[in-house]
Amino acid sequence: MNSDNNQNHNIAIVTGASRGIGLAISKKLISLGYFVKGICKNPDRCEFSHSQFVLDRVDLNDTKQMEDWLKNFPDKDKVRILVHNAGVGYFAPFEELSWEQIIEMIGLHLTAPMLISNYFLRTLKANEGRIFFIGSISGTKVSPWGSVYGSTKAGLIHFGRELFQELRKSGVKVTNLIPDLTNTDFFDHLSFTTDEDTRSYILPECIADAVGTVLSQREGTVLSELVIQPERFKIKKKEKGKD
Ligand SMILES: NC(=O)c1ccc[n+]([C@@H]2O[C@H](COP(=O)([O-])OP(=O)(O)OC[C@H]3O[C@@H](n4cnc5c(N)ncnc54)[C@H](OP(=O)(O)O)[C@@H]3O)[C@@H](O)[C@H]2O)c1
Repeated sequence: MNSDNNQNHNIAIVTGASRGIGLAISKKLISLGYFVKGICKNPDRCEFSHSQFVLDRVDLNDTKQMEDWLKNFPDKDKVRILVHNAGVGYFAPFEELSWEQIIEMIGLHLTAPMLISNYFLRTLKANEGRIFFIGSISGTKVSPWGSVYGSTKAGLIHFGRELFQELRKSGVKVTNLIPDLTNTDFFDHLSFTTDEDTRSYILPECIADAVGTVLSQREGTVLSELVIQPERFKIKKKEKGKD
């Protein structure tokens, strides 16, 4: 990235910023004056562009790629916000999950957020910045075939709670956002998806609005955990052979 693009903006890093929840949060942060440095696997597929937005190609399951990206990060001192959002869900009986799928979920939902937070923490302390973790309702309860997805999200939520306690004395504010069914591409490879009933899912923009709400609190008040759910509970099983 050309660091001149940043001008005087504070930087927000958003993982999984190319679509869905990450893109909606990126747009919200841009509207609030941040320069958003996004990460995803396939930036070419992102349809959004803005002068305050860059999208870097980093596979968060590749520690070497992540390390190179961090080491070459320009304007590190301007980073104020981390949003750990990138994620993927594989739901199946446990023995049917492949090692690759298990490793991918652990890497995306636990290893990458921990390494990136660790790398920027001194900067965040100096800037009295913020960390957002995008958990999942699956991390708060036992759900069918959610053994690994739910466990990694439970771990992420717990990590967020730990960091909230550890960092509250140093000015860094930590928030767990815990969404339920959200209408995104997340379900593209799954056997179920959101129902047509518009009251049975939330929209990525609802989670972005929650980020705005967290950021608009008076100095000294932290919304440390928000669960965002649709009014009704419905999921739709996909017909075999159809998306
Ligand atoms: N949708 C839901 O119902 C729901 C509910 C609760 C929690 N969540 C959580 O919300 C977060 C965002 O989900 P979403 O619904 O917005 O999903 P999505 O539309 O499928 O978007 C996933 C994002 O993660 C990125 N990503 C995936 N693997 C990556 C990797 N190895 N390296 C870097 N980036 C990677 C994708 O990048 P590419 O575009 O390059 O593939 C994309 O930007 C996830 O953590 C998910 O677990 C979702």
